[in-house]
Amino acid sequence: MSFETLLDLQDIRMNFGAIEALRGISFTVGKGEVVALLGDNGAGKSTLVKIISGGLKPTAGRMMFEGNERAFASPAEAKAEGIETVYQDLSLCTNVDVVGNFFMGREIVKKYFGIPVLQEKEMEKVVADAMAHAGTRIPSLRTNVEYLSGGQRQAIELNRFAHWGGKLVLLDEPFAALGVEQTRRGLDMIKRIAAQGIGVIIITHIMTQAFQVADRIVVIRQGKVAGDVAAKKTSPDEVVRMITGESMIGTAQETRPNGP
Ligand SMILES: Nc1ncnc2c1ncn2[C@@H]1O[C@H](COP(=O)(O)OP(=O)(O)O)[C@@H](O)[C@H]1O
Ligand SMILES: [Mg+2]
Repeated sequence: MSFETLLDLQDIRMNFGAIEALRGISFTVGKGEVVALLGDNGAGKSTLVKIISGGLKPTAGRMMFEGNERAFASPAEAKAEGIETVYQDLSLCTNVDVVGNFFMGREIVKKYFGIPVLQEKEMEKVVADAMAHAGTRIPSLRTNVEYLSGGQRQAIELNRFAHWGGKLVLLDEPFAALGVEQTRRGLDMIKRIAAQGIGVIIITHIMTQAFQVADRIVVIRQGKVAGDVAAKKTSPDEVVRMITGESMIGTAQETRPNGP
């Protein structure tokens, strides 16, 4: 399956003083493609995600998004273009209900005799439809988020992202705090979101998760791409070898220890 290019990273470099955290990262993410970003601790994954979502300015390199070169000065700028990191919990107001969180800052208001009135029923219907479309069940949309599970909160954030025209979502170890069943639902939801044409970059250190959800696997090792390969064309063992530096596939310095 081939995807229309959404994000194209070209030789991204990031120095923190004398530390070269990223030493020339290039890869693409397509519309509707799920890319799992793997690599050992300190490889540079989180740094890269922060650069893509406007949280860090790279030392060098180009970032093309939908065919145009972009340099985001802040996460808000990236978000306005449809690029967002979803962190579990952090962007929800726990003392506000599901509908309120979904519409935060975008409430539907109608004026009656000049007086603005929130259209609660209309908003509730929009949220119910969006959740149903994504296969997410939440008992009551009028429940404050503080009473919902981590998985439900993540579902709200992802549904909200998709509903408001999100194009590329970044997830950094999204299931670290979730149980088995919630993780399974989360993986399903990522697939459903990608099926709508949204690009996904997911960082995970759990190999089975990467293979369950990803179309492509990109391995970062010591700030460089050490592997870039279709998930169907590799194996967990091979990916481990890329992570540890025993093999490099889909890169300029390709080496396959066991042929071809
Ligand atoms: N703000 C920072 N200042 C200095 N060094 C940093 C900073 N952020 C990350 N690093 C360094 O950059 C490298 C990559 O880190 P990181 O992107 O967090 O790796 P990963 O997410 O793959 O574990 C590490 O050596 C880390 O110590
Ligand atoms: Mg990290």
